[in-house]
Amino acid sequence: MSFQPDLLKGKTALVTGGGTGICRGLSLALAAHGCDVAITSRKADHLEPTRREIEALGVRSLAVPADVRDPAAVDRAVARTVDDFGRLDILVNGAAGNFLCMAEDLSPNGFGTVVDIDLKGTFHMCRAALPHLKERGGVVLNISATLHYFGTVAQLHVSAAKAGIDALTRVLAVEWGPHGVRVNGIAPGPIADTEGVRRLLVGPAKERAAKMTPLGRLGEIRHISDAALYLCSDAASYVTGVTLVVDGGLWLASSRMAEAWATAVEAATGQS
Ligand code: COA
Repeated sequence: MSFQPDLLKGKTALVTGGGTGICRGLSLALAAHGCDVAITSRKADHLEPTRREIEALGVRSLAVPADVRDPAAVDRAVARTVDDFGRLDILVNGAAGNFLCMAEDLSPNGFGTVVDIDLKGTFHMCRAALPHLKERGGVVLNISATLHYFGTVAQLHVSAAKAGIDALTRVLAVEWGPHGVRVNGIAPGPIADTEGVRRLLVGPAKERAAKMTPLGRLGEIRHISDAALYLCSDAASYVTGVTLVVDGGLWLASSRMAEAWATAVEAATGQS
């Protein structure tokens, strides 16, 4: 453990997409540091195994099926969490959808579906949670990406949604700071053993990404959890409006210019 086990003792969190992948790991990390955790997913069967794992860590846990695209379902999920836990301190927006598709093949509904889940879902959750977060000074953590920092092919829909999420993080940080609510984000790079990497880093892309990462390897879920623990804790009490990139430096090395530069340096120095 990188932090004291009582880092978040007495706090409560609601994590969307908390049943699987990065957000499952993040939910377990919050719980291991004393936080009661509610998780949502649109698929109920994703939730119960993780809910039991959270409970086994000695905190209260709650599984609430909800589609973040549905504002009424979001309102019910937040209300249920506050009813059960008595308060809400931390909201983590992790629910996301993705697939590889070139822009010219993307249908209006394909584009809209990802924007609805990632961006509008994040807005719906923030909106529903604010009245509770501002009661004691809470935290919002939005899970973003680095795809939109450059022109990632076949990711137009997600890039647009995540760019919107980053904008939302900055604007809400300004509007909600006076309420004592901090709003930050995390932009993970490729994280090994997740559905995202299985779906998106096809063929040799996984090995190539690991090789191109300045820190020499793909990320692990614990790297995102550690960043989340920091941003959700009082250690970050003066940090708001930031999207923390946790990618081993990959995106900085990913642009064509950086790659061309690296090739040129390689040729010039005879090193690889
Ligand atoms: N390529 C192109 N278009 C796609 C697609 C793909 N691989 N997958 C979905 N779409 C399009 C559909 O064709 C549809 O558009 P249409 O009505 O014009 O045909 C639209 O997206 C909605 O798809 P649908 O499957 O009806 O929506 P859904 O709400 O059930 O699921 C996702 C949408 C994005 C969540 C779905 O891709 C999914 O379930 N993904 C797995 C979970 C996931 O993405 N996890 C995150 C990993 S990073």
